Amino acid sequence: MDNLFDVAIIGGGINGTSIAYQLAKMGKKVVLLEKNHIACEASSAAAGMLAAQAELEQDGPLFQLALQSQSMFPTLSVELIELTGIDIEYVNKGMLKIAESEELALEVKKQVTFQQKWDPMITWLDSKEICEMEPALSGNVAGGMFLPNDGHVQPAKLTEAFAKAAESFGAEIREQIEVVSFIFEKGHVKGVQTNKGVIHCEQVVVATGAWAAKLMRETGLDLYINPVKGECFSVKTEAPIINTTIFSDKRCYLVPKRNGEIYIGATMVENRIDNKVTPEGIRTLIERATQLVPQIKEAAWERVWTGIRPQTGDGFPYIGEHPSLRGLYVAAGHFRNGILLSPITGKLVAELLTRSSLLDQKLLSAFRLVRHKQTVG
Ligand code: FAD
Ligand code: GLY
Repeated sequence: MDNLFDVAIIGGGINGTSIAYQLAKMGKKVVLLEKNHIACEASSAAAGMLAAQAELEQDGPLFQLALQSQSMFPTLSVELIELTGIDIEYVNKGMLKIAESEELALEVKKQVTFQQKWDPMITWLDSKEICEMEPALSGNVAGGMFLPNDGHVQPAKLTEAFAKAAESFGAEIREQIEVVSFIFEKGHVKGVQTNKGVIHCEQVVVATGAWAAKLMRETGLDLYINPVKGECFSVKTEAPIINTTIFSDKRCYLVPKRNGEIYIGATMVENRIDNKVTPEGIRTLIERATQLVPQIKEAAWERVWTGIRPQTGDGFPYIGEHPSLRGLYVAAGHFRNGILLSPITGKLVAELLTRSSLLDQKLLSAFRLVRHKQTVG
């Protein structure tokens, strides 16, 4: 087996595969190394919301990154189906960010004013208008913000499609291979040591989500990544009961998927890295979801699942080069928005590695690896 590459990417989640796709398309000889299989962790657990405007509430580099990434999806979905035959199930019917009390309505109305700067189509709907739009909603809502451009995709299919698209440009995807350490020569990365031998390369990208800090520690770089577990469940109904995504707060949303499933998420369990689904987590979600849409009680049960979100200290992902070791890069820590941010992450990392003149250095600097709690030893 040929073990000599330009770039080795570690991690077969949404970010590793997006980066592999962009670099392979630019002509780099790429290998992606995944310890288990493609999309086995957070990237298949996600609800797939492209919630730039529902989840992010203030302007800044992360919000701008999210808007740019969100705008890439219409073209990307067509490009990926042409290259791979995989439909990422991009749906763009918008999202309703619900205010469940008069107090919350004041907050959400402020958000409408802020968000309209970026999208004049965003509107406030009062209780009557919102129930006309989504008749299955319980009447106990004070109103909400309609975000026509916060769509969603099927995250596991997007990850799979990125991987296949990368392969179509010559990238190698190697599963069941775990990277255990890096190989350096005179301060420059020269490869990685895996449980199945050595891979030689000039550049390495660590895209291992919640596991990135562990791998980087041996390089003396102390990244702050808190694993935040999220549990979800899904139901099916004979006929669709909701049309748009219903987003109540960061702990309850209902996402109507193209296959008829409604994904309902998600708990937030700090500092937890197990894949156990708990009755208490699911009970809380059922309670919240049925308060919003009572018909969920009558729906057919589908499945439960869980995943680990990689949360950084300031909520910004790490995207950049190691401060002292050349050729070693990280793209991890995308917390609640890794699916949304995956197209722009792939593009930025590919531009960074190829020293492209198109790279937005100013934007990228907000995501550099050394910025708050970490130290370089
Ligand atoms: P991961 O998907 O975790 O991939 C990392 C990969 O690295 C894994 O496959 C792992 O096996 C591999 N790996 C680790 N160590 C090694 C090693 N040493 N060698 C080789 N391979 C290794 N985001 C959104 O944008 N929209 C949403 O609606 C949304 N909903 C979510 C709901 C839930 C319940 C959860 C948990 C997350 C949600 N997210 C959402 C967040 C999103 O899922 C993550 O931000 C994103 O998937 C992170 O992707 P990643 O590629 O960085 O990491
Ligand atoms: N972005 C949804 C979640 O992380 O649960």
